[in-house]
Amino acid sequence: MLDKATQRVVELRDWADERFPVTAFWRDHLARYYAPKNLNFWYFFGSLALLMLVMQLLTGIFLTMNYKPTAGTAFASVEYIMRDVNWGWLIRYMHSTGASFFFIVIYLHMFRAMLYGSYRAPRELLWLFGMLIFAVLMAEAFMGYLLPWGQMSFWGAQVIISLFGAIPYIGDELALWIRGDFVVADATLNRFFAFHVIAFPLLLIGLVMFHMISLHSVGSNNPDGIEIKKHKDKDGIPLDGIPFHPYYTVKDLIGVVIFLMLFSAVLFYAPEMGGWFLEKDNFVPANPLKTPEHIAPLWYFTPFYAILRAVPDKFLGVVAMGASIAVLFLLPWLDRSPVKSIRQRGALFKIALTTFVISFIGLAYLGTVAATPIATLFSRIFSVLYFAFFLLMPIYSKMDKTKPIPERVT
Ligand code: HEM
Repeated sequence: MLDKATQRVVELRDWADERFPVTAFWRDHLARYYAPKNLNFWYFFGSLALLMLVMQLLTGIFLTMNYKPTAGTAFASVEYIMRDVNWGWLIRYMHSTGASFFFIVIYLHMFRAMLYGSYRAPRELLWLFGMLIFAVLMAEAFMGYLLPWGQMSFWGAQVIISLFGAIPYIGDELALWIRGDFVVADATLNRFFAFHVIAFPLLLIGLVMFHMISLHSVGSNNPDGIEIKKHKDKDGIPLDGIPFHPYYTVKDLIGVVIFLMLFSAVLFYAPEMGGWFLEKDNFVPANPLKTPEHIAPLWYFTPFYAILRAVPDKFLGVVAMGASIAVLFLLPWLDRSPVKSIRQRGALFKIALTTFVISFIGLAYLGTVAATPIATLFSRIFSVLYFAFFLLMPIYSKMDKTKPIPERVT
């Protein structure tokens, strides 16, 4: 017999359930959603990406309350937030440091998919939604960086938008249309603000929903690269699955706590991370008449920026940079291996993936330094290796000597 209070709660739940599927949602996506029991450290980054998305949205809302999006007021309004608004410094640094941490999490999340072949059938759409998220996230970060209206904001945007000018015939008109003026100006700042605070966040939320719907329809891959839905008990429950709640809600919380410790350490002791998360030049107000000595994007764009600079022709450089992102979309169809996970792959794939990681990190570094002849040479070598990883994949993934896939989770 239920006591009176519990009885009321049950009635309220039933009332809601008849009008909105609360219990069904809880059951299907948490309490009776079965995830492989062998998910490891690499599987923390999905929930951490969600955490970062929420953190960016919340801190962004509070920043918007005091930020003023005009060329005459933007820089000073950010300084006002940093100095005079109660807790403004914390909110601003959470957002700016948060952007870099978001990309760290996303890069590790994507790398996990490469380790375990999570982009392979039946998860191609999950991967494509992920890639769309990645593309929108890059646009979101690029537009956000213009808003403080510092020297790097201005000149970074000037350089990147002028790349559109390299497109034959329509280039100049297109760049003018994007800027809304002949140089990056008030009109540019205003439209970037609109995109940054509403258009792209909405898109991101929508895409993340599609990503999650797709994930829950196919189920998680795992470090063994096997499909747990193949072995079910008589009630249809995967033998190698455990309910997401409470097992993974609790496990993910541990990931969140450790992550927040690292995040706080940077946030409170090195929010600019020596110029890596907020460049020194960006503490100087934008000056259209004075080009900074060295223009470099933030670290998360530098691998692609280095590929751009590695090509002597401007237009072909833009094409190469676009291709370096576009080729990631094709990953599910480039990989022809009979196995998914690195655990069953042979030496060829392991060498290829290691070379890819080295070239990606190499390019990331080279994108931050001046384009000296030696830096350009290395950028070219790493760019070739970067593309070789993808374009030769249909060959080496097929030739690779693989191990048999285990029937059950090991
Ligand atoms: C806001 C950004 C993102 C959020 C919130 C997000 C969220 C998640 C979550 C919660 C999971 C399940 C937990 C896990 O497997 O770690 C997941 C899985 C996955 N995500 Fe994302 N994700 C994001 C971006 C991306 C991107 C950029 C890609 C790749 C281009 C991607 C590809 C995948 C794949 C392939 C899986 C399945 C992994 C597996 O089952 O082994 N995601 N994502």
